[in-house]
Amino acid sequence: MSLISVREERTGDEDAIRAVETAAFGRPVEAGIVDILRESCPDFVSLVALDGERVVGHALFTPAAVDTGPVGMSLAPLAVQPDAQRRGIGTALVERGLAALRERECPFVIVYGHPGYYPRFGFERASAHGLASHIPDVPDDVFMVLVLDAGAMAGVRGVVRHRVEFDEAME
Ligand SMILES: CC(C)(COP(=O)(O)OP(=O)(O)OC[C@H]1O[C@@H](n2cnc3c(N)ncnc32)[C@H](O)[C@@H]1OP(=O)(O)O)[C@@H](O)C(=O)NCCC(=O)NCCS
Repeated sequence: MSLISVREERTGDEDAIRAVETAAFGRPVEAGIVDILRESCPDFVSLVALDGERVVGHALFTPAAVDTGPVGMSLAPLAVQPDAQRRGIGTALVERGLAALRERECPFVIVYGHPGYYPRFGFERASAHGLASHIPDVPDDVFMVLVLDAGAMAGVRGVVRHRVEFDEAME
């Protein structure tokens, strides 16, 4: 494995991203969501990880809004090619994405994910911050938030909703 680099998605990466998403999740659903959001969601951050020239990882951030006002971002999906996992590629993608969102003064990031993985980046149970998912019956430890701007999020409580394309694709 050569040195891993992370950069923003470019035109021409689409097929490689689709392949990584499909391989990582073992199904085409997440790859399809990425394709839909690329067309429908103007304000997204899409990062690829490269092993040399080969795309081996992908992370997507799209807007998510609290019903009481603030708009942050949602991290989903995050995918690393199975034969390249556990080498820090997921970490590199998340850290690069979070740095970009801090620069944009994004107030918070949500994720639905493995409770053993995301806390290393500072994600905490969203319920501890007064935030609930719009999806019923999500396990409390799965729905997490990383508050990037504590001032902007002070006193904010409410229900967070990600892009409807996720829900439509999961139906
Ligand atoms: C989750 C995923 C993106 C992590 O990418 P990665 O490049 O393997 O991650 P890193 O190398 O940065 O980190 C490896 C760490 O993640 C942990 N990890 C990987 N998958 C995990 C999981 N499903 N649950 C908990 N921890 C997990 C490993 O145990 C390892 O921990 P350690 O550093 O304490 O040993 C990757 O495993 C993947 O694509 N999985 C399939 C798709 C998926 O589930 N995406 C996330 C949806 S929430």
